[in-house]
Amino acid sequence: MGQNERVTFGSKLGVILATVGSAVGLGNIWRFPYMLGENGGAAFLLVYFICILILGLPVMLTEFFIGRHTHRNAAGAFKAMVPGTKWSLIGYNGVLAAFLILGFYCVIAGWTLEYIWQSVTGGMHGKGADQFKLEFETFSTGVVRPIAWTILFLGLTHVIIVSGVKNGIERASKVMMPLLFLIMAVLCIRSVTLDNAAEGLAFLFKPDFTKLDSSVILSGMGQAFFSLSIGMGCLITYSSYFNKQTNLQTTALQVTVLDTLVAVLAGVMIFPAVFSFGIAPTAGPELVFITLPNVFGQLPFGSLWSFIFFVLLGLAALTSTISLHEVATAYVHEEHHMSRGKAALLVSLGVLILGTISSLSFGVLKTYTVMGLTFFDLLDYVTAKIMLPLGGMMICVFVGLRVDRKILKAELTNEGTIPFYFFNTYAFFMKYIAPIAIGVIFLNELGLIKWMKGFF
Ligand code: PHE
Repeated sequence: MGQNERVTFGSKLGVILATVGSAVGLGNIWRFPYMLGENGGAAFLLVYFICILILGLPVMLTEFFIGRHTHRNAAGAFKAMVPGTKWSLIGYNGVLAAFLILGFYCVIAGWTLEYIWQSVTGGMHGKGADQFKLEFETFSTGVVRPIAWTILFLGLTHVIIVSGVKNGIERASKVMMPLLFLIMAVLCIRSVTLDNAAEGLAFLFKPDFTKLDSSVILSGMGQAFFSLSIGMGCLITYSSYFNKQTNLQTTALQVTVLDTLVAVLAGVMIFPAVFSFGIAPTAGPELVFITLPNVFGQLPFGSLWSFIFFVLLGLAALTSTISLHEVATAYVHEEHHMSRGKAALLVSLGVLILGTISSLSFGVLKTYTVMGLTFFDLLDYVTAKIMLPLGGMMICVFVGLRVDRKILKAELTNEGTIPFYFFNTYAFFMKYIAPIAIGVIFLNELGLIKWMKGFF
């Protein structure tokens, strides 16, 4: 598709909402709390914040540069900038990551549909924490129900992808984002007024540095990349739909701030309740799904709150699955000259297979593990902790080495029409700090740094 026929997002608000829509999702509300719980609490939060600031922002801005500069999909962008080189591998890494993330993400997204259903049909009142847990376990280890919801969720994503960027993505995001903020604020208030809430807040905000080890740092970095949707070309793809007036700097800042805010809100919503109801913070992927029903049970009209919350969570997940699907679909459509509809179908069918196996890995396939990880965990680990940070690192290395600073600055300042006061700082972080920090974190996790220390 030529540059001129390419669609763009309709309005300034649309740009931000769609990008925030991609960033804000299960990553913030489902993955962030359980990662934090498994990694010792506030120390993880601190690592996460630092990663957002020194890695997240520069990588996001760099992706925006690549996407809007080339107006191409994640792989095509590199082909357009440096034809015939291996740099396009960064794009392929991203396309593959999108596909693999969808393969586990749509399972959790499907769970939100089950909870919407439960809110409508079942009561919340009179059930204790153990019963909510048991119900969750019965559901998630089952075969037909979770897979059916996964398929339904994927179907919804598919339909929106086929109906195009502007009508689907932009419209969906515009309505749900403000609503999501609102309901999370209400739930935070309820949660911090529960008995024992202070313990949960201390877990979230009072760092215990003895908990800090290489795996906490890797997890914090992975979470930052996952939550911001960076390192895999998603934001390259989205920014390829930005127009020449979009202010890339403020967009990056707004998306980052909003995304981080939602994660912190999720923490405040979950942890006081976790401690109040005696749930283990280390419960893993089910944490949110066993904690929140207890909170709803404590509210008047609990089922109604539950219904609204899970609808919004489902929608937040949907705007993220759309962005993931779009990475893969735009790639197949544009690089393999297939119609958009066919490309989308191919992607959906592939994801369906992965999603089914992921879903079963909570139940009948639980014992099939690789390095102690179930299929679901493996997809999560490989993408969030390896492919995204590696992709982000390579994006920075690429722009740092191969792109003329003048071109970079011209794009990020809209041809000099808007100022970029911190350009040199940004360029320094992008070129040196981000790649080196990510590299060191990898080496540290692999134990290589410890090993090297043995020589001195
Ligand atoms: N950022 C999304 C979330 O937090 C997930 C995602 C990751 C979406 C990578 C796109 C790309 O839920």
